[in-house]
Amino acid sequence: MSILITNIKELVQVEEKPQLMVAGAAMSKLKSIQSAWLLIEGDRIRDFGTMPINNIVSYEADPSCTVIDATGKMVFPSFCDSHTHLVYAGSREIEYIDKIKGLSYEEIAGRGGGILNSAKRLHDATEEELEEQALCRLNEIIAWGTGAVEIKSGYGLNPADELKMLRVIRRLKTLTPIKIVPTFLGAHAVPAEYKGRQGEFTDMVISEMIPQVASGELADYIDVFCDRGFFSVEETDRILNAGMKYGMRAKIHANELDYSGGIQVGVKYNALSVDHLEFTGDAEIECLLGTETMPTILPGAAFFLEMAYAPVRRMINAGLPVAMASDFNPGSSPSGNMQFIISMACIKYRMLPEEAINAVTINSAYAMGLSEEYGSIARGKIANVFITKPIPSYAYMPYSYGSNKAEQIILNGQLVK
Ligand code: NIG
Ligand code: FE
Repeated sequence: MSILITNIKELVQVEEKPQLMVAGAAMSKLKSIQSAWLLIEGDRIRDFGTMPINNIVSYEADPSCTVIDATGKMVFPSFCDSHTHLVYAGSREIEYIDKIKGLSYEEIAGRGGGILNSAKRLHDATEEELEEQALCRLNEIIAWGTGAVEIKSGYGLNPADELKMLRVIRRLKTLTPIKIVPTFLGAHAVPAEYKGRQGEFTDMVISEMIPQVASGELADYIDVFCDRGFFSVEETDRILNAGMKYGMRAKIHANELDYSGGIQVGVKYNALSVDHLEFTGDAEIECLLGTETMPTILPGAAFFLEMAYAPVRRMINAGLPVAMASDFNPGSSPSGNMQFIISMACIKYRMLPEEAINAVTINSAYAMGLSEEYGSIARGKIANVFITKPIPSYAYMPYSYGSNKAEQIILNGQLVK
């Protein structure tokens, strides 16, 4: 089976020599080919070039080849969403109303809302219900152009429910064409029954949850919500240390609510990414420079909670790479729309369209450990791409916020929409 896309107005994010990520000034460079063709064979990108294509007649005559004429349309690599919590039960719009009335995220959490509210709902839901709701969300993000997604546990908060979430994530992998990367987030919040005994909860995460998650091979990465009011640097240090011993690399929530030391402890453990980063100063930027840790920004959460926006311009100007993800979750970012993330990247963080597109493709693929196979259009990579509606330029992608510009979706070399 093969797919040949011809007459592409612009083939965006092409790489002759694939890179694992782009940093600093290189983020403003986005390679593209105007008037292009793209050939997909099996589940891989086989070749691309400038029109006309040789042997077009033989492709057209081949019944196993689908030829798509993309006149006026662009082709992008699928978005990579490297931070979500999209397995959850129900929704929390009641808290949204509380927020409108003036309560903060921490105040809502303090009243038993927030993560604890989702933990209760998750406990009451069956695996089938969780699976069905998550599949709906996955289908929605596929239609918006996402082709790879990280999903965290973290609404279990006890061994049985954390394992239940991770089993659902594992089953989802077999039910959808989108690439799924599972992360264990046992230390997301302290459950009510451990109130005042946070150290004991941390011990339990280390001695019970981590070994069970590892023996079931249920997660590739380990996360901790390292922030004011959640888990301290010392607790995070202990959990990451234990997770690493079981082969789970760190990928943590850091510096969303304060200068929490989360970035530093993440870097200490060579985290693949540190995420949120609203509270990032010179010391944090200095600490990240020259490391293998991808600073990851979650514009949806900053927007929805009306927080400070991370100093992305300063970070890029200092030479850092930046990835962006949706943080799709029921409390702080109930949307997985990566097209809106790009719009916010440009408007709220003053990123150029090229920087924003790099942040949600190659750099966010890196933040999931996937950039050798995903995140750009390069020969031999997995064929995850989407064809846009007719659009005038790639800058139209962030500019035209709120509408879906993705028209046809190809995942693993198959047309899925
Ligand atoms: O990334 N910051 C911590 N966790 C999530 C929120 C989860 C929730 O409120 O349900 C986040 O924003
Ligand atoms: Fe999150």
